[in-house]
Amino acid sequence: MMEQKEIYIIGIGHNSAVTIELAELNGYRIMGLIHYNNELTGKTQWGYPIVSDTESFLKQDIASVNFALSMGDNTIRKEVFDTIKKQGGMLPLLIHPTASVSRFSVLNEGVQIHANVTVQPDVVVKENSIISFGVGLTHNVTIAEHCYIAGHSLIGAYTVVEENVLVGMGTTTVSGKVEKIGHDTVVGAGSLVMSTIAPKKVVYGRPAK
Ligand SMILES: CC(C)(COP(=O)(O)OP(=O)(O)OC[C@H]1O[C@@H](n2cnc3c(N)ncnc32)[C@H](O)[C@@H]1OP(=O)(O)O)[C@@H](O)C(=O)NCCC(=O)NCCS
Repeated sequence: MMEQKEIYIIGIGHNSAVTIELAELNGYRIMGLIHYNNELTGKTQWGYPIVSDTESFLKQDIASVNFALSMGDNTIRKEVFDTIKKQGGMLPLLIHPTASVSRFSVLNEGVQIHANVTVQPDVVVKENSIISFGVGLTHNVTIAEHCYIAGHSLIGAYTVVEENVLVGMGTTTVSGKVEKIGHDTVVGAGSLVMSTIAPKKVVYGRPAK
């Protein structure tokens, strides 16, 4: 019998059970949960033991140990991702079995593709980005590192979403009209994006401004 792959989940918040379930569905055996707050160590959540705080755990030898990151905050997730990578840890790609992913797409380390997502051909999703439930990534879209594309957003063809962007739930970027969404930008929920958005902006509305 093949040995089951093992993984640790980092982050305990409202969204963490989504990541736990995703790891289970990808065939991982969850070895424990890890949280920044050491006061939770020893407790149990969603049936799994909280085994350590993040800082102490990542100080150990974590070479080739698998992790999945459950925090939605892009900046915190980037920090933890970078620490794990520096120390030789691994962040496997996790794809929900209901997702439809083109064989002509490229999904990188630490990417999570949640339930009912569609990824069309020639899409690239770079390290540590989370594509939440029901999102559509149209052909030739690029999602850079450490982004969070929230539920039921639709990213139109040829849009490049730069690093560390939050696209709020139910947003549409119109195919062919939006070259870029600049790094570190937040697009509010339910937005309709009609043109390029500069870096470090907060925009929302229909059309988004
Ligand atoms: C855009 C956003 C970041 C702004 O947050 P904020 O700075 O706290 O803004 P506020 O809630 O104080 O709202 C300020 C004004 O903008 C309006 N507004 C805020 N977000 C809006 C949105 N997405 N669409 C339309 N109007 C919006 C508010 O109604 C309010 O208007 P008012 O001044 O006329 O009352 C936030 O509302 C948002 O949409 N976040 C995305 C959430 C999300 O999808 N997360 C995904 C994880 S599940």
